[in-house]
Amino acid sequence: MNSKISPREEVLANAQKRLEKDITDYIDECMKKDHPKSFLIAVLHKVQEKYGYLSKENLQAVAYLMDIPAAKVSGVASFYHLFHLKPKGKIVISVCLGTACFVKGAEKVVKKFKEELGIDLGQTTTDNQFTLMNTRCLGMCAMAPVVKIGDDIHAKVTSDVVPALLEKYSKAMK
Ligand code: FES
Repeated sequence: MNSKISPREEVLANAQKRLEKDITDYIDECMKKDHPKSFLIAVLHKVQEKYGYLSKENLQAVAYLMDIPAAKVSGVASFYHLFHLKPKGKIVISVCLGTACFVKGAEKVVKKFKEELGIDLGQTTTDNQFTLMNTRCLGMCAMAPVVKIGDDIHAKVTSDVVPALLEKYSKAMK
């Protein structure tokens, strides 16, 4: 009996090894359903939940296991702003740019965070402490402009308080 595995089986086995079992089990479940490829976004959410972001290697593994071209998987991952393609910092700062926050000056707040951190939206500081993001309405428009830092919500944030906020969180990480 020939026990050699084919190149495709080898690729699949490697993809399987790359991801945690709960993810591969979930993919297996999806692949048994009608229109399995329509579960791609759900799978990507699971992978991001597990690893914090979507690495190239993990996207590739998903592509193999779901039998979807890698370019398509990467395209979907980069299209949706909820997916992160790079590791995030220890603390994620999300500035709400929904209408109410925007009208109340959230843009100035973003500008100040960018200046203070020396990064753009979607980037992480070189010391991996902070990632700066924008977000849609957080449902607290009466408190606009709203900024979420880690799990904390800050209301009526102005650009003046940004340095103090950053200092507070930097100290907390030490
Ligand atoms: S628009 Fe910012 S919380 Fe609603």
